[in-house]
Amino acid sequence: MTSKQIQTIRTRDDLFRMISQIRQKRSTIGFVPTMGALHEGHLSLVRESKQQCDFTVVSIFVNPTQFSPDEDLDQYPRPLDNDLQLLQQEGVDLVFLPDNQELYPADCSTSIKPPLVAGKLEGESRPTHFAGVATVVLKLLNLTQCDIAYFGQKDYQQVKVVQHLVRDLNHPSKIVMCPIARAEDGLALSSRNIYLSAEERQIATCLNRTLQETMQMIAEGETDGRAIMAHMTQALIEGGVTETDYAVIADAESLEFLEQVSRPAVLLVAAMVGETRLIDNCLIT
Ligand code: PAJ
Repeated sequence: MTSKQIQTIRTRDDLFRMISQIRQKRSTIGFVPTMGALHEGHLSLVRESKQQCDFTVVSIFVNPTQFSPDEDLDQYPRPLDNDLQLLQQEGVDLVFLPDNQELYPADCSTSIKPPLVAGKLEGESRPTHFAGVATVVLKLLNLTQCDIAYFGQKDYQQVKVVQHLVRDLNHPSKIVMCPIARAEDGLALSSRNIYLSAEERQIATCLNRTLQETMQMIAEGETDGRAIMAHMTQALIEGGVTETDYAVIADAESLEFLEQVSRPAVLLVAAMVGETRLIDNCLIT
């Protein structure tokens, strides 16, 4: 079995030992944190790390603290053998596979209060989500001692939360944002797309279509933030989404809503397609 050949580590102690050996060689360490169910989006981050760093570590951990009780923690896909095979094909050097006990031992009570940028958008519908993300990401950055950690623009607000976290706490890792990998019809790849029925999968393409249309509208001179938001919400509803959570134009750094378009900005959308919550975004530079 190919999955046996890739090096995996399950405990913090083993990881610390391994990383200190790598550090002694003065190799640069690249790190890609994931929750598994890997697709081309995750693999694009791995390729970026392989290109820029000497040693690439990937973690697979479905982090319970970033799920709220009504979310899909139990159903979250966990195709570990397939994931390991994909990572082996990419030439990943090490996969860290901690269990809950390893990252959250019984006596572990410290957590991170996430930066302000966590409070908006995703933070409004998922109030505890980014505290869980920030806490686990900091644990993982500390464990891997990476020079560079790679995150996807797909989760744009998450990238900002992590960038502000490392800045505010003086963490030495550099955070690199990689572009959104999409299916041929434009749908942003996501581990949750497997929840979509064939009909919902078609409807889901309206998120990216809405973003592209709105970019066009802005390129043609629209500057009014409220008109842009209204257009996006309308386009999502006409595209068949079950419910729009948000559809905004925001400052690319603070994620504050923009009354008037300024640059750099970002269009961000979140919508329910059936029972599945999808997000997408597009930068305006
Ligand atoms: P997960 O959803 O598995 O995503 C892992 C990384 O892959 C994230 O940085 C995410 O933005 C990136 N990614 C997902 N889909 C992508 C796509 N279509 N194109 C480019 N990158 C994509 O995000 C998480 O896990 C967790 O919150 C984690 C950071 C691991 C903390 O638990």
